[in-house]
Amino acid sequence: MGDVFPEEGAFEGDSHLCPPGVKVLPIPVLSDNYSYLIIDTQARLAVVVDPSDPQAVQASIEKEGVDLVAILCTHKHWDHSGGNRDLSRRHQDCRVYGSPQDGIPYLTHPLCHQDVVSVGRLQIRALATPGHTQGHLVYLLDGEPYKGPSCLFSGDLLFLSGCGRTFEGTAETMLSSLDTVLGLGDDTLLWPGALSP
Ligand SMILES: [Fe+2]
Repeated sequence: MGDVFPEEGAFEGDSHLCPPGVKVLPIPVLSDNYSYLIIDTQARLAVVVDPSDPQAVQASIEKEGVDLVAILCTHKHWDHSGGNRDLSRRHQDCRVYGSPQDGIPYLTHPLCHQDVVSVGRLQIRALATPGHTQGHLVYLLDGEPYKGPSCLFSGDLLFLSGCGRTFEGTAETMLSSLDTVLGLGDDTLLWPGALSP
């Protein structure tokens, strides 16, 4: 898997770093966390990954002029799910996805390993990666519909120079989860949930 991180701004469209028709917008939150807005630029539909700060996410939604239709939570911790209530109330019909094992606040659509969330042309696959929490999921945006690289949103499983703490699993469980994502294609772009553990 290739390690690429958005140090400044978004990757969009025909950039070699992101499939055409997709915009991935990193939203810096808290001290070193990131939420991500994933936009189908044709349909003007958006998904947000791990919205901890609803005001920061809402500001990006308004700036981009898109409709928020889904929240994807990697896990239950407040710095990844703290915006679920406000955003799902503000955006009617916005679905909240995550693992039913993880106590995700305001969850409406529980996901299992290999389930796919479809939003416009976005195809996003959930992969079970327990260890940091029992129900931790990562999300893989399929690049195939756009003939571009896939994008991995790794939450607190994998950072640029380390991995998340093992709060609810064994070292073996965590290693198995890391093997799951390290087996993805070499051109997969990594979008971690924070800069450091
Ligand atoms: Fe966490």
